[in-house]
Amino acid sequence: MKQDKSYSAVMSRRNEIMKKSVGIDYESFEQEGIGFSYEKMMREASPYSLSEIQKIQLYNGVGHTPLKELKNITKMVRKLAPKGKGARIFIKDEALNDSGSFKARRAAVSCYHAKKKGYKGVMAATSGNYGAAVASQAAKYGLKCIIVQECFDSRGVGQPEIVEKARKCEALGAEVIQLSVGPELFYTFLKLLEETGYFNASLYTPFGISGIETLGYELVKQCENEVGRTPDVVVCTNAGGGNLTGTARGIKKATDKKVQIIGASVNLKGLHMASDYQFNRKSFTTGHTGFGIPFATYPDRSDVPRSAARPLRYMDRYVTVNQGEVFFMTETLAILEGIERGPAGNTSLAAAFSIAQELDDDQIIIVQETEYTGAGKHHGAQLSFARENGINIQFGNPRDEIPGENIIIPKNPSLIKVNDLDLTRVKKSCIKNHINNNPEVELTEQDILFLMEEINENKTFVLEILKELGR
Ligand SMILES: Cc1ncc(COP(=O)(O)O)c(C=O)c1O
Repeated sequence: MKQDKSYSAVMSRRNEIMKKSVGIDYESFEQEGIGFSYEKMMREASPYSLSEIQKIQLYNGVGHTPLKELKNITKMVRKLAPKGKGARIFIKDEALNDSGSFKARRAAVSCYHAKKKGYKGVMAATSGNYGAAVASQAAKYGLKCIIVQECFDSRGVGQPEIVEKARKCEALGAEVIQLSVGPELFYTFLKLLEETGYFNASLYTPFGISGIETLGYELVKQCENEVGRTPDVVVCTNAGGGNLTGTARGIKKATDKKVQIIGASVNLKGLHMASDYQFNRKSFTTGHTGFGIPFATYPDRSDVPRSAARPLRYMDRYVTVNQGEVFFMTETLAILEGIERGPAGNTSLAAAFSIAQELDDDQIIIVQETEYTGAGKHHGAQLSFARENGINIQFGNPRDEIPGENIIIPKNPSLIKVNDLDLTRVKKSCIKNHINNNPEVELTEQDILFLMEEINENKTFVLEILKELGR
């Protein structure tokens, strides 16, 4: 019998399709009420231990990336910082993974698992580095690979960074399906999963997140062995939350010492991610607040029933930087350190440049990733594209930047300053989303415990918010 491929029919088969394509029975981790057992899911859904994952990655061109001290940038920080301040800045050079970013760590476990379970191919819905990562890992195993990306606005104009990613995916042997902005992405993805029977290498399964744990683990061990001190602060560029979650979990496996975990996103306040007009008025396609805030406050908006990326469980502080500040740091990294890298890692670098000035000069701050650059990913290409789209580019104070209207390159590095988001507010909004999504549920002690873990806060804090919400 011919299957109904209409939008509503495919969407109604969504759970079945997902279950078959990731091989995880999410129901088995659900609890009564609003919660689920996150740690049980992380332990049981992906059966690979940290050391097994390290081996899988090492064998496949992933991990063991160098930790590099940015000596000249640190000197510049110390010129701007008060006496005795100015932490040493290091970067973990993740661009040296085979596909050019930390996303290779995520893809490594999914592709290994897909091959082991006998899938013929892998698929991912992503406009970012993850496509290249899946394509690269799939090539190693002889798996077929399809990447579905949201690329164009309705005029058919592609965001240069996403166009570059399509090129890279195709170069690595993947088939790339390019769509315009809109709701058809998820539908197309589900339909293709059903038709092909391929493995869904989702960014948000325990396979992907456990793959990133090796990054956090490595950076602590390298810092201790090569520099002689546990890092004090680690800055992670945050979008869907997996980068921060996996890194923080790996850090906890490497040390009992407190390492402050800071999330950093590019400030794109006021720009709507689903807007056709605004799609090409932003110069960053990931690591920005348009993903960072919604995913932190409601992780299960992802393409699997329960996301393994839950950054509020680990985040100690959440800061933003502006587009112009990241472009400035991109050039600074190239010109002062001789390292030319792409946008997402440089988001954290811009944040670290400011935060290092608050820390003592014997402390260590690590920017936990770099990514490759080139073609449309390059800041030169992004700035030209922004200008073509009517964005005003000028030198000045980045505080005056209005996303979608202008890009302000700091006229002086002393103007690069992080903006602290109110983490309490972000946490409240996470609780509110859990409650609003389950309006009928009578909250139990188990639910309260789940909420405490979700936002890493004590019972008094959670009860206070619930009271404000009338629960
Ligand atoms: C290079 C790079 N860094 C950081 C991120 C953010 O990771 P996450 O979405 O897991 O927060 C991305 C995601 O697209 C990325 O490609």
